Amino acid sequence: MPLNWIEIDLSALRHNFFQARDRVAPECRVLGVVKSDAYGHGMIPVARELQKCGASFFAVSKFWEAAELRRNNIGLPVLVLLGIEPADMEEAIRLGVRPAIFRADQARDFSKAARRLGMPARVHIKLDTGMGRLGIPAEELCSFAEKIKEFPGIVLEGVLSHFADADERDKSYCEYQAGRFVRAIGEASQQGISFAYCHISNSAGTLEVPQAHFQLVRPGIMLYGSPPSGEPSDSVDLRPVMTFKSRIIQLKTVPAGRPIGYGRTFVTRQESRIATIPVGYDDGYFRALSNRGQVLVRGKRAPVVGRVSMNMITVDVTQVPEACEDDEVVLLGAQGGERISAEEIAALCGTISYEVYCAIGKQQRFKYFLNPSTDLNEAT
Ligand SMILES: Cc1ncc(COP(=O)(O)O)c(C=O)c1O
Repeated sequence: MPLNWIEIDLSALRHNFFQARDRVAPECRVLGVVKSDAYGHGMIPVARELQKCGASFFAVSKFWEAAELRRNNIGLPVLVLLGIEPADMEEAIRLGVRPAIFRADQARDFSKAARRLGMPARVHIKLDTGMGRLGIPAEELCSFAEKIKEFPGIVLEGVLSHFADADERDKSYCEYQAGRFVRAIGEASQQGISFAYCHISNSAGTLEVPQAHFQLVRPGIMLYGSPPSGEPSDSVDLRPVMTFKSRIIQLKTVPAGRPIGYGRTFVTRQESRIATIPVGYDDGYFRALSNRGQVLVRGKRAPVVGRVSMNMITVDVTQVPEACEDDEVVLLGAQGGERISAEEIAALCGTISYEVYCAIGKQQRFKYFLNPSTDLNEAT
């Protein structure tokens, strides 16, 4: 039995996928963002499940992630958001992997690779509509597309951009970005340049900006059960997918006045029952949770006391008299009627749920995938 592990509830993932699916028009496709190991949830089982649910595309940030999907027989089109290096282009074309393109030389090199193989080179042009990060300025779409479509084999399959703050209540900047996107696509269309997929909506856009769904939406965080703004919303029912668990490896009663952990930052005020849990910052449990975090034991909240160390934390279970050695402890997720959410941990640590999931997912060595759906092929 591992000392700590995560459980990934694939039925919650399915539920969240359909929350996205149900908000877009029937002809609009849904792309699952599965980069960074599906935000720490495990890219292959997550992608497999989303493919069964009817996702049409996947997005990753690096080519090797796309190759990993193919090695695992996941056949849907994959978009590589950070582009593809020349050395990987032939393999990408063979595997049906599309790069986001934001430099003309990327298209030239991709075209050369396509010509060597005698295959089409499908690309998505990345526009900067106001995020100020990756992409060509939206107003340059026409001239850029005119230039790169001359490279033999290049197929302009898509054009994409990314919202900077669609999760904010005030949607004015998001509308400005969507406006720039629409104008750029309109101008291109007047020049006879069209794209099968125009896409700009992340989870927040999928949930709250219906006029920006176009032919494809790209939800990420909502699939994993967190609201993009960090605030729970009444208008969507999202179910957390990740649970992070461990167990009590030692439980002791200590008298009042005893220091606990590095730096002696906590001293017992009364006789206390202190549980030691084998989880630390090396497991993705942030050190900022020292003397601040809570965990669940026997369905009750218990405070982290003292500093989070590399591989252990100490928890005061005085108020959980039934707690025993070997009891399961939930660090993220639900137990009984209680839940510790990624948003709660994020707020305590001055970060966002995305980083909580990535940190825990990355450091974990044991992941269990619960409730996979079966399809006909698997059932027979
Ligand atoms: C280009 C792009 N599209 C979509 C997403 C998904 O965003 P979210 O997880 O907020 O839905 C991301 C995530 O960072 C992204 O970089």
